[in-house]
Amino acid sequence: MVSLNKNYKNIKESYLFSDIASKVAAFSEKNPDVKIIRMGIGDVTRPLCKSVISEMTKGVKEMGEPETFHGYGPEQGYGFIKEPIKEYYKEHGVELLLDEIFISDGAKSDLGNILDLFSGDNTVLIPDPVYPVYVDTNIMDGRKIIFADSNEENGFLPLPDDSIKADLIYICSPNNPTGAVYNREQLKKWVDYANNNGSIILFDAAYEAFISGDYPKSIYEIEGAKTCAIEFCSLSKTAGFTGTRMGYTVVPKNLKAEDMSLNKMWLRRQTTKFNGVSYIVQKGGLGVFTPEGRKQISENIDYYKENAKIITDCMDELGIFYTGGKNSPYVWLKCPENMESWEFFDLLLKKAGVVGTPGSGFGSNGKNFFRLTAFSTRENTVEAMERFKKLVSSL
Ligand code: MLT
Repeated sequence: MVSLNKNYKNIKESYLFSDIASKVAAFSEKNPDVKIIRMGIGDVTRPLCKSVISEMTKGVKEMGEPETFHGYGPEQGYGFIKEPIKEYYKEHGVELLLDEIFISDGAKSDLGNILDLFSGDNTVLIPDPVYPVYVDTNIMDGRKIIFADSNEENGFLPLPDDSIKADLIYICSPNNPTGAVYNREQLKKWVDYANNNGSIILFDAAYEAFISGDYPKSIYEIEGAKTCAIEFCSLSKTAGFTGTRMGYTVVPKNLKAEDMSLNKMWLRRQTTKFNGVSYIVQKGGLGVFTPEGRKQISENIDYYKENAKIITDCMDELGIFYTGGKNSPYVWLKCPENMESWEFFDLLLKKAGVVGTPGSGFGSNGKNFFRLTAFSTRENTVEAMERFKKLVSSL
């Protein structure tokens, strides 16, 4: 008889955002007249920019002509998209080789898939709170997880503790859900820790496009990172690709463990288990990196940042503690009246018709916190904050 991966018994029955979606669907069914405003999952609302559509359209046309049709492409992505990504990194002082860049269908998949390279015996260090994918994928593989406390005292930016030995370390900066962002000195501490302990950092840079101050956008801006870190990036939030699917993962050639090259292992893994991102989508990705594309996506990011300001202005007015919103599309706020986060989720949904994400879904340190995203439309963000104010003022 078949034997199953029993580790699945140890994860929550459903993924955080599926859980929220079903709660909202149930509420909506019972209350069809309530106009629900969704500020839960970080899903974008601005359409793809013109430059992306134009390149994608060219790709569609090419696929319809025998001379320009494309079948299987290189599993690690076409050179025409890896070149501009390499140039993008150069702008913040990072030199990459083309074969260190792997085009993916988004950061989430690669963050899970990368674990194929590591044995189940590794101990994993994960900040609490953080993007739930890190925890769930490691539980699925049965790895031992240690949590790094991320809280108000350390500004939601935990630093390495030499008394703790971790083999794999997750860092997300700007952070999901807290919006906190590491500076160079802080990231250098993690890089030094990893190099001294033979650990590998899995650096999630999915929100780097939201950074406006002098913070590192890539971990490779930090000296020593190429011998200890893999970086995951995504066009989802940068360019509205949540439904289109494209990202990239950087695995440096100098990254080795137990005398094996992680770059070679990842290439072997991808060529075996992945057939690459579709030609048309990679063409669309090219539209993100043209000068017009860069201008157009930054207009969209500014739009979301203005939404974030509307949210943080509301929190300031109500005297609610929060982080994020400046270098991140997320605002991480303390639940009013020190409420438990699911309790506040229910209250906000029932009394104001606004959906957010309960902090508990990101870890136990999120128990009394709540996340709102700035990815909604302007109109809905304004309306949601009016409803929020009215509700909180009545408590
Ligand atoms: C989030 O809301 O945390 C993200 O949108 C989830 C994701 O990117 O997969």
